Amino acid sequence: MKMVRDVVLVSIVLGLFLQNASNVEGRYHYHKGQKKNPDEGSSSTTSPAPPPEAQDPAPSSPAYSPAPTVPSDPAPDPSNSSSGCVYDVTALGAVGDGSADDTPAFTAAWKAACAVESGVVLAPSGYNFTITSTIFSGPCKPGLVFQVDGVLMPPNGPDCWPKADSRKQWLIFYRLDGMTLTGKGTIEGNGEPWWDLPCKPHRGPNGKTVSGPCDSPALIRFFMSSNLAVNMLRIQNSPQFHMKFDGCEGVLIEKLSISSPKLSPNTDGIHIENTKSVGIYNSMISNGDDCISIGPGCSDVNIEGVTCGPSHGISIGSLGVHNSQACVSNITVRNVVIRESDNGLRIKTWQGGSGSVAGISFENIQMENVHNCIIVDQYYCLSKECRNETSAVYVTGLSYRNIKGTYNVISPPIHFACSDTVPCTNITMSEVELLPHEGELVDDPFCWNAYGVQETLTIPPIGCLQDGMPQTVAESSAYGC
Ligand SMILES: *[C@@H]1O[C@H](CO)[C@@H](O)[C@H](O)[C@H]1NC(C)=O
Ligand SMILES: *[C@@H]1O[C@H](CO)[C@@H](O)[C@H](O)[C@H]1NC(C)=O
Ligand SMILES: *[C@@H]1O[C@H](CO)[C@@H](O)[C@H](O)[C@H]1NC(C)=O
Ligand SMILES: *[C@@H]1O[C@H](CO)[C@@H](O)[C@H](O)[C@H]1NC(C)=O
Ligand SMILES: *[C@@H]1O[C@H](CO)[C@@H](O)[C@H](O)[C@H]1NC(C)=O
Repeated sequence: MKMVRDVVLVSIVLGLFLQNASNVEGRYHYHKGQKKNPDEGSSSTTSPAPPPEAQDPAPSSPAYSPAPTVPSDPAPDPSNSSSGCVYDVTALGAVGDGSADDTPAFTAAWKAACAVESGVVLAPSGYNFTITSTIFSGPCKPGLVFQVDGVLMPPNGPDCWPKADSRKQWLIFYRLDGMTLTGKGTIEGNGEPWWDLPCKPHRGPNGKTVSGPCDSPALIRFFMSSNLAVNMLRIQNSPQFHMKFDGCEGVLIEKLSISSPKLSPNTDGIHIENTKSVGIYNSMISNGDDCISIGPGCSDVNIEGVTCGPSHGISIGSLGVHNSQACVSNITVRNVVIRESDNGLRIKTWQGGSGSVAGISFENIQMENVHNCIIVDQYYCLSKECRNETSAVYVTGLSYRNIKGTYNVISPPIHFACSDTVPCTNITMSEVELLPHEGELVDDPFCWNAYGVQETLTIPPIGCLQDGMPQTVAESSAYGC
C-alpha cells in the first residue's frame, strides 16, 4: 500500500534472485544430504506462450474456467498419461517436518511440472513444508497447477531468514501464463517475529519506532504473468502483504481465506498494481492493513462477495506519490461486507500527482462499526510535511449505491477532501444510509470541492455536493490517461 515500486528496480532484484537461486542449498542447511538443487524453473523446453484464455470475470456469473482436473490422490493413475503429471514434492525429497529445508524438492517439482502440459506441483496434506524465498518462474507449458494441500511456510522470522535471500518477498511466481495456485491447505507466513521488529510502528523500546531499514517479505507475489487463478487456500500471518500482483493481466481469485491479527503492521490482504482484468470473489479477509488495495495502473477490476474485517477496508491508492502519474479505471465493488475497520471505501491520492481515477462503482456494501465509511482524501501524506501543490490525480465518476450500516463515531462517516485545484466530479450518491454504531450521530460530513448528485438524501445528510462540472476540469479532461 505504501510502497511505490519501480519496475526496473524490481527487475534487478529478480535478476539477483535468479542468479542466487542455485545456491539455495549452500545457504540454508537445515537438512543435509539432499540432492543438488536444480536450476530454477526456467525450463528450456518452452513453447511459445499460448494466447490468453478468454477469461471474463463478469459480475453476474464469475466465468471461472476450472483448473485442469487435479487428482486429489497424490498418486496419479499411471495408466492415464493425459491426466496431467503430478509431481509430489515428498517423492522428490521433501521432508515436511516443519524444520527441514524443502526448497530443493519444490524447485525440482516445479521444473518437472513446468515442462509438461497441465503439470501439478503437489505439496500433500499431513506435512509442514518449509522453503526459503524462491522464484518459480516460467514460461511453462499451459495448465500448470501449484497445489498446496498441506502447510507451506517460510523460515520462522528474520533470525532464520537466509542472509542472501531477499527480505522483500517469499514466493514469487514470475512470467507465467495460465497458472493456478490452489489447494485445501495453508500457506502460513510465520509473520509474528517480523511484526515485532523494533522498526515497526510502536514496537521499539517504550513503544517507540526505531528508524532504519525494515523490509519484511510479502508472502506471495505474482509478477509479469497472465491468466492466473488463485483459489481455495488459507493464507495467513504474512510478514507483510499477503498477496501481491504486479504487471499481471487476467487474475481470478476465489474462495480464499486470508487472515492475520488486527494489529499486524502492513499486512494488506490482496494488493494489485499495474494489473488489469481482475476478479476477486467470495473470499474472507481479516488483517492489520488494507483488505484489498488497488495501486496505479489498474483497470477492469471486479470485487464481489468479499468480507473484510478487521482491516483497513478497500482502498484505491495511494496514487500520485512523488508527482507520479496514476491511472485507475473501471473498478466495481459489489455485495461486500466491511466490519470493524479503520476505513471502508477509500480513495487516497498525494498532492502533486497527475492522471485520473475514473469509473469507480461501490454497490450493496454493508458496514459494521467502520471509521471513515466513505472517504476520498486527496491530501494523503504520511509525514504531515507535504507541501501544497497545484496538480492532482483527477477523481471522477464515483458511484455509491446502497451503502448501509454503522460507523464508528470517532470520525465522520463521509469525507470528501478533494483537491483545491482539481475538484472531484460526477459523484453519485444513492441510498447511502449510515448510523452510529454506538454514541451520538456525527452529522457533519466533511466535504470540500466535490461535485455530484444525491439521487436520494444520504444519512447523515451532506449539503456540500456541488452541481454540474467545474470549469477548470472541463477544460483539461484527459489528465494523461
Ligand atoms: C484421462 O484423464 C483425463 C483428465 O482427467 C480424462 O478427461 C480422460 O477421460 C482420461 N482418459 C482415460 C483413458 O481414462
Ligand atoms: C505442523 O505444524 C502444526 C503447527 O505447528 C502442528 O500442529 C502439526 O503437528 C505439524 N504437523 C507436522 C506433520 O509436522
Ligand atoms: C469494466 O470491467 C469489467 C470487468 O470487471 C469488464 O467486464 C468490462 O468490460 C469493463 N468495462 C469497460 C467499459 O472497459
Ligand atoms: C495547504 O492548503 C490548506 C488549505 O488551503 C491550508 O489550510 C494549509 O495551511 C496549506 N498548507 C501549507 C503547508 O501551505
Ligand atoms: C459519470 O460517472 C459514471 C460512472 O459512475 C459514468 O458512467 C458517466 O459516463 C459519467 N458521466 C460523465 C459526464 O462523465
